[in-house]
Amino acid sequence: MQPASQPRPLSKDEIAGARQKNKATTRPAIPGTAPLADPRLDWKLLRALAFDPVRFQHDQQQIALGAKNEQTAMVRDTLAPIDDVEAVAYVGPRYEEMRALGEAALSRGEVAVVVLNGGMATRFGGVVKGVVDVFDDRSFIELKAQDVLRASYEYGAKIPFVLMNSFQTNDATNDHVLARGRFGLDADQILTFQQSISLRMNPDGSLFIGDDGQPSYHAPGHGDFFDAIKRSGVLAELEKRGVKTVLFSNVDNLGATIDPAIIGHHLAAGAEMTAELVEKRRTASGKWDAGASPALLNGRARIIEGFRLPPDLPVKEYPDFSTNNFLFSTAALKKPIELERFVVRKTVDDSPALQLESITCEASSELKLHLLRVPRDGEHGRFFPIKEPIDLEAMRPLVKARLAQSSPITPGLKALATDVATAVFERYGRQPEMLSFGPGRANLIGEHVDNFGGEKVPTKSIPFAIDRQIVLGGFRTDDRIIEIASLNLGSTISFSLDALSQPGFQLDEGWGRFVQAVAVELLERGHSLSGARGCLKGNIPGKGVSSSAALGGALVLGFSSLFGLDLSRDELVEISRAAERRTGVPCGYLDQMASVHGRPNGAVVVGFFGGKKPSCEAIPMDFGDARIAGIDTGRTRDLKTSQYGARMREALEVALPLFAKAIERGTGRKINALSEITAADFARFGKLETIGSKTAVKRVRHVVTEMARVEAVEKILKSEANDKAAQIGLILDACHVSLRDDFEVSCPELDFLVDTAKRHGAYGARLMGAGEGGNMILLAPADRLAAIVEATVAEYAVAFPERKTVSFDVAASTGTGMIPLSLAIKGP
Ligand code: GLA
Repeated sequence: MQPASQPRPLSKDEIAGARQKNKATTRPAIPGTAPLADPRLDWKLLRALAFDPVRFQHDQQQIALGAKNEQTAMVRDTLAPIDDVEAVAYVGPRYEEMRALGEAALSRGEVAVVVLNGGMATRFGGVVKGVVDVFDDRSFIELKAQDVLRASYEYGAKIPFVLMNSFQTNDATNDHVLARGRFGLDADQILTFQQSISLRMNPDGSLFIGDDGQPSYHAPGHGDFFDAIKRSGVLAELEKRGVKTVLFSNVDNLGATIDPAIIGHHLAAGAEMTAELVEKRRTASGKWDAGASPALLNGRARIIEGFRLPPDLPVKEYPDFSTNNFLFSTAALKKPIELERFVVRKTVDDSPALQLESITCEASSELKLHLLRVPRDGEHGRFFPIKEPIDLEAMRPLVKARLAQSSPITPGLKALATDVATAVFERYGRQPEMLSFGPGRANLIGEHVDNFGGEKVPTKSIPFAIDRQIVLGGFRTDDRIIEIASLNLGSTISFSLDALSQPGFQLDEGWGRFVQAVAVELLERGHSLSGARGCLKGNIPGKGVSSSAALGGALVLGFSSLFGLDLSRDELVEISRAAERRTGVPCGYLDQMASVHGRPNGAVVVGFFGGKKPSCEAIPMDFGDARIAGIDTGRTRDLKTSQYGARMREALEVALPLFAKAIERGTGRKINALSEITAADFARFGKLETIGSKTAVKRVRHVVTEMARVEAVEKILKSEANDKAAQIGLILDACHVSLRDDFEVSCPELDFLVDTAKRHGAYGARLMGAGEGGNMILLAPADRLAAIVEATVAEYAVAFPERKTVSFDVAASTGTGMIPLSLAIKGP
């Protein structure tokens, strides 16, 4: 064993510099004095966050006396390697046993997830790390929450999601959680608590004063978890809910998903604390990973923080280091766990500063420890730390692939996936290699505007993905034939990829045209496809929730997975929409944006920029005690007789030029898109005498008023109002009137359903989607929704006996995604 090498002590100049800067403002911490009398201290903050002045002053004195510094943190006792660490196997009977044990605990609701979310992302521009976008507009916290939702569905238990925030991250995190609709988790499923706070010191122990002339506060390391979770009452709450095991990880490690085998190992070991270890590797600079390591300290297994260890610990003997993923038993967390606070040196405002931090792994000195070697990357990889923007760039594809297993799969979707997997097996004698899904969509507001945005001024809609999907399962072949069976329709389509590029090729008439159109779009974009077999099944109700966007998304993502195309969500949208347009529907971006970008409990505010890539912002969809349902008219909008194309022409080819001319003449302003016509423009120029076409006036009035309605709904959704449903209901009603009278895409069936639902007490109702049939949505008090729908459907059956109607729940759910094969295929 090499003797511990000493970290570089501060130079005299550095210390003098620090003293100089602080001279005028602080007194050195001399034992026996009261250095915390500094008038600039924010005692309200300090007290609220459990600052311990006695302990702090003691530390100050220790530092002033030289009794505590970076050197004193170094381990001095005998270290020895540990050589009997079990690794999770991921195959075989032991694995199955551990997995079953973990699954049982999860199903009993005995597991909670704790995420360490105290840190700022200094290297990401100083924002709160947890809210940094990782991919597809999903933040670290959102991706963690998504895994919790996934596992909650999978094991049928409401898994608590606990965030440990710091004074720096608390507000921004809470705002983010609300802005993202709590990621689809129930309100009581998210628990937060704050860690405590402390003060930075100068190297001599006196209070550090920053460039702003104020004391400098910091969160005292994640080891504060043990105190903070107790103090906040969160531990007691978890115990009350029956939680026995807590899964603990850093917010930036997205590999730390809920894995039943890992939980099983922890339980089987009867441990109070299980540490997940991975193999050390050389980093890009050629140095070995540095971090906390397992070792025997005076004969006892411990995890020891990296800065306490000799830097030349031989990797051969100490091949593992800690991921900072731990499992704790809640019973053990109740014990008083007193952790040492170590001196950590920082540079703050270009001056050296000391802060005292306690480190979670050091609890291994007090708790019965179990060590578990876990895979670092790959399908079950558990260590993907992202410390700098460059890590994010490098890891994004890996993290994305790793988290494909983490989409929240609702029970209905799982049932579809199981049916599809079974059908593939029965038909082809083999299991599918992938299962993809695309959801239907609903649109809260912003109807018939998506083709009217301009390059600078967009039109907007607020749509969302719903919990009804189409699932595609299949495998790849090399015979250049695509064959897909629809379980709903009982028909199979089959075509040769080579035929698609033959001169004079025409798309099929039936549903196969969608599949062909997707294949053509992929080929034309230079992707290579080699052939596939598969089955499809969906549970999308009626005609107005865009089963075509659902199918498009499932196909594009499914092919992307089978042929390794690695398409982004933006590409899914682009290709799926282009394919639909190829089948003859001149649709805008609304359907694909909603279906692909949807998230649980949330909608997206989509901005349409004249055929260019739309913008997309997540927005919570929380109406309090109100919910949305849909009712289908049973009347199909026929592609051939549909007014959709005619409306687009009337608006774009007739109304736009007439308005542009009038507005330019009156104001000198050039108008390039309907979105550029303001309400004031319309009030001034939108008259029959000025425009000369009643139809043009009506179409534009719809667009102008609809834009105002979208804006109003966006404001309400983002507000704290407690009558959101009632306010939005009125706007839905106005939207229907506008679609009926100005855009003229309603029909007697839709008008009847809307009026009847209103009469029975809905807050609001409107036709949804293209209109001329299809379906409508209504917003109603949750406890009366079913009764209102039932009464409306009953009256409809009398008024339109020839129409077959369906009603359905419209819950915002996850956008286009992959389904883990293990969910749908049981057994080896
Ligand atoms: C259909 C189209 C969409 C959109 C809506 C109306 O669903 O596919 O692009 O135009 O109608 O809002």
